[in-house]
Amino acid sequence: MAAASASGKLRLGVVGLGRLGKRHAENLAYRVPGATLVAACSPVEEERAWAREALPAPRLYDDYADLLADSDVDAVWLVTPSSLHAKQIVDALRAGKHVFCEKPLSLDLAECERVLAEAARYPHLQATIGFMRRFDPSYKDAFDKIEAGTIGRPFLVRSQTTDKNDTDGFFVRFAGTSGGIFLDCTVHDIDVARWLLGKPRAKRVFAAGAIALHEGLRESGDVDNGVAICEFEDGKLAMFYASRTQAHGNDTHSEVIGTAGALAIGHNPRANRVEIYDANGIRNECTPNFFDRFEEAFLYEARAFVAAVQRGATSSGAGAGAQAGATLADALEATRIGIALRRSLQTGDAVTL
Ligand SMILES: NC(=O)c1ccc[n+]([C@@H]2O[C@H](COP(=O)([O-])OP(=O)(O)OC[C@H]3O[C@@H](n4cnc5c(N)ncnc54)[C@H](O)[C@@H]3O)[C@@H](O)[C@H]2O)c1
Repeated sequence: MAAASASGKLRLGVVGLGRLGKRHAENLAYRVPGATLVAACSPVEEERAWAREALPAPRLYDDYADLLADSDVDAVWLVTPSSLHAKQIVDALRAGKHVFCEKPLSLDLAECERVLAEAARYPHLQATIGFMRRFDPSYKDAFDKIEAGTIGRPFLVRSQTTDKNDTDGFFVRFAGTSGGIFLDCTVHDIDVARWLLGKPRAKRVFAAGAIALHEGLRESGDVDNGVAICEFEDGKLAMFYASRTQAHGNDTHSEVIGTAGALAIGHNPRANRVEIYDANGIRNECTPNFFDRFEEAFLYEARAFVAAVQRGATSSGAGAGAQAGATLADALEATRIGIALRRSLQTGDAVTL
């Protein structure tokens, strides 16, 4: 593993400078105490040009292998297409780097299993998957209230990830590599449900979907609206909704129902605390996209990863304290359920896991 920097800061290299990678890079460069962004990698020249302008002079690479060979990088931050995650995580661990990787771990279950097997060979390194909703202050508050027994025994989660309708067709083009709506969007709700319900294992799922607006999705077998039910082994339940066609904004929210109460998390996706009173009634504006809704969560997950590496927490659970965020095993389970939902959508049958 690379030696720690003289400043004691964790030296990070960000990989992928697309839609989300740029936002992660800015957080890592300017807003995460204890970290310094020393390198960035993208095969796309315009993205490297952006990095030259926007970041504090990181070493720039067009090839991931060259970034991994940089001995002054302690940890890599992968914000690359989902189909590359598994191999890139394994390569990072083999190069002796801690690794943060955006969700999902992989679109393929066997690949997830290979990553877990490989990570077990490097128990001193941290490997975390970016289910950032765990770091959103409202979701975290709900988690803490459940832990404190506020709603008794939680047994049902209703959770949705719904995007504002995107007329420029980004996600239609993205559908070929995203794994489809359940692996791309609902995978967050799956992780939230398992996290809030005490990590139960899924037993059976059923999913259905519709194309409300984006006919271009037919080619990749995807839908722009999907619903699903998931039964867990201990009698707990989850219901999911995912959409790409909302008129009002990114409306991501969840509800946890327990034996002594319920918690609703973010039901009104308000952009701020202004209410507009006019001839149409009373209303508020909404968060336009996932980044506006979860800006704090992305920042707090980065701070938590860096703090966890610095206090010696590892993916094996060894070291001074637990790993921050979703483990590889959590991410494998989310992919397992996401794949079963996609199969149910395709076949029209319930899928037993
Ligand atoms: N947590 C969330 O809510 C959330 C939201 C959006 C995206 N994501 C995830 O983030 C990842 C990236 O999504 P995006 O929307 O930024 O996609 P994007 O297509 O905008 O960006 C992908 C980036 O990867 C780079 N890239 C491609 N091949 C590469 C390679 N071989 N080596 C290095 N870099 C390479 C591209 O140049 C680009 O910079 C996806 O896995 C997606 O699921 C997560």
